[in-house]
Amino acid sequence: MQVVGMTNEREVWIASNTEKFRLNELVIIEDEELNNPVGEVIETYALNPFIPGVDEKSSILVDQEVVASLSSLGYNLEEEMIYTAKVRILSELFYPISTGAKVRYPCFAEVEELLLKTSPDKGLALGVILGTEGLTASLPLPYRRVAPLYEKGEIKPQTGVPFIFDYRAMNNYPHIGVFGGSGSGKSFGLRVLIEELIKKRVPLLVFDPHYEMSFNEVFHPGLPDDFKETFADRCLILTVGDDTGVKFEALTPADLCNLLSAVSPITEAMENAVTSILERGDSFTTFNQRLNDLMSLLESPNDDDFKKSFMASCQNIDEKKREAYLNRLMALKKQVGQLSTLKSINWRLNRLERQGIFRDQGIRQIEEGLKAQKAVIVRGSIWMLKVYAAYVLRSLYGKRRVYRDALQKGERAEEKFPPFVVVTDEAHNFAPRGEQNVPSRREIREIAQEGRKYGVFLVLATQRPALLDDTVNAQLNTKIIFRTVRSHDLNVIREETDMGSEEIKRLPYLPSGTGFVSSPVFGRTIPIRVRAAKTSSPHQINPFDELETVDERDGEIMNIIKECLPVNASNLVDLIQRLEACGFILSQERIINYLDMMVERGEIKREENRIVGYIYRLA
Ligand SMILES: Nc1ncnc2c1ncn2[C@@H]1O[C@H](COP(=O)(O)OP(=O)(O)O)[C@@H](O)[C@H]1O
Ligand SMILES: [Mg+2]
Repeated sequence: MQVVGMTNEREVWIASNTEKFRLNELVIIEDEELNNPVGEVIETYALNPFIPGVDEKSSILVDQEVVASLSSLGYNLEEEMIYTAKVRILSELFYPISTGAKVRYPCFAEVEELLLKTSPDKGLALGVILGTEGLTASLPLPYRRVAPLYEKGEIKPQTGVPFIFDYRAMNNYPHIGVFGGSGSGKSFGLRVLIEELIKKRVPLLVFDPHYEMSFNEVFHPGLPDDFKETFADRCLILTVGDDTGVKFEALTPADLCNLLSAVSPITEAMENAVTSILERGDSFTTFNQRLNDLMSLLESPNDDDFKKSFMASCQNIDEKKREAYLNRLMALKKQVGQLSTLKSINWRLNRLERQGIFRDQGIRQIEEGLKAQKAVIVRGSIWMLKVYAAYVLRSLYGKRRVYRDALQKGERAEEKFPPFVVVTDEAHNFAPRGEQNVPSRREIREIAQEGRKYGVFLVLATQRPALLDDTVNAQLNTKIIFRTVRSHDLNVIREETDMGSEEIKRLPYLPSGTGFVSSPVFGRTIPIRVRAAKTSSPHQINPFDELETVDERDGEIMNIIKECLPVNASNLVDLIQRLEACGFILSQERIINYLDMMVERGEIKREENRIVGYIYRLA
């Protein structure tokens, strides 16, 4: 193996007539004057002698210089197969490498500094570095079993140097982006990252719009015993509207406006109205009542009519109180403007209420979970999470800030609040680029810009980096990039990372689970393969399988149908009555659906009759 062709201080070509070069592998170039620099293979070629007339003119891809130099160094292009590769030098050189210099493969110790920034017990073992397979044999034992791989449904031993992310470096380079198209390995990668953070007991707040993040089942029976691990006791799974929500009593007018605007954007007039109407300590009921009374007042032709009917309607309440309340309404009427404004507030408010977002326990469980250094997983539809994330992030980030600021000033803080990492998939929904007013974007932007100071970090995954807010994007110091096809997204990646054009060209073709890590922590782009997960979420039913599976209720219905066969599709009255008697109220279409499904399953048969149409019989 040796250097061929013209060189410069950044790139060289190397060639061999025996070794096939692999993408991303490291080589040492024996040029002592330059301290034997290390390079990474970034493009590989084979020159085939069986294609007649291999000479300067026929080589399209490989440099002309390389071909000329190959001949002069004694390679016989007419007779032997020659492998060549373009190599990027990883150290900074001030003059070019000499042509003809010998090239060899390193052992692990020689390149350790370039590949490992921290040890597996101090950092996050996310996978293996591609191109380091040849170093497996010289790898010290503790590094050999931290990243088994998953391939075609099977667990394979780790090959290559583990990729270990020094999460402590997030203190200087905060925030991580995980990008990649659908099926590229984002969720899988996010799971592995979360597993590692859970192991390190980093408090996590995970928004889970896909209901896919739970960590209590073993991913695969083939995982080595010393690697197998689950995390049920370190996770807390909450569903918005069931276990967690917003305590109405604690809302400020600004909070309430944010929640309302998450349903649909609100106007300044609506904001003013909310600020006037909401009183300290209001519950949902008292606020809603006041809002509705005001609407009736604005709807009634004159104030006196309203007064009369109001005083009459709640006789059980003390008269003085009734009058005070009436006066309050009259005063509000002057401040709140149009009836339409109140109606707009009202439907947004009711939508929130119907989703169950107003819960007395509020976010207490989330706080407790973070303080116990757990992974708190908050589930809900994207719509709900968008509403909720803004509120939760503001509250928790606020608490953390108050605590840190107090520490900074040497004061005693009332409440200790830990640093934490916020993780979300579909991040472009929470912090979208563009004009529309999305409350969670403001919070995420603020954390992106200032969170480092307070120890609050983001891990944002999205399949559409081009739709993610620019400010947020620019603050994601470390980016893990999986297969990406869309040109808009590739453009953003080109602008926002230090990836070279060779790597960008590979992005559309990466297999699932393979990606590039672009991070100032490493100073260069590292190609990685994410390790096998330790856990999986309970088996998700494929929606099409779900359509085909028959549950207990379906089974009962089909049994009753069988008992009534033969039936004639144009006269199902008897069958309908029979089903109703057993508690199943079904339309004619639904019953025919069942009949056809049973025909497809081969349980019954369908005959066509010229007079009565279809007749269904036992097969
Ligand atoms: N690191 C990996 N190793 C092996 N297979 C992987 C890996 N990551 C993803 N896959 C495969 O690709 C599939 C899709 O990955 P997933 O993470 O769900 O994609 P995304 O979230 O980007 O749509 C997974 O079900 C898995 O079979
Ligand atoms: Mg996914």
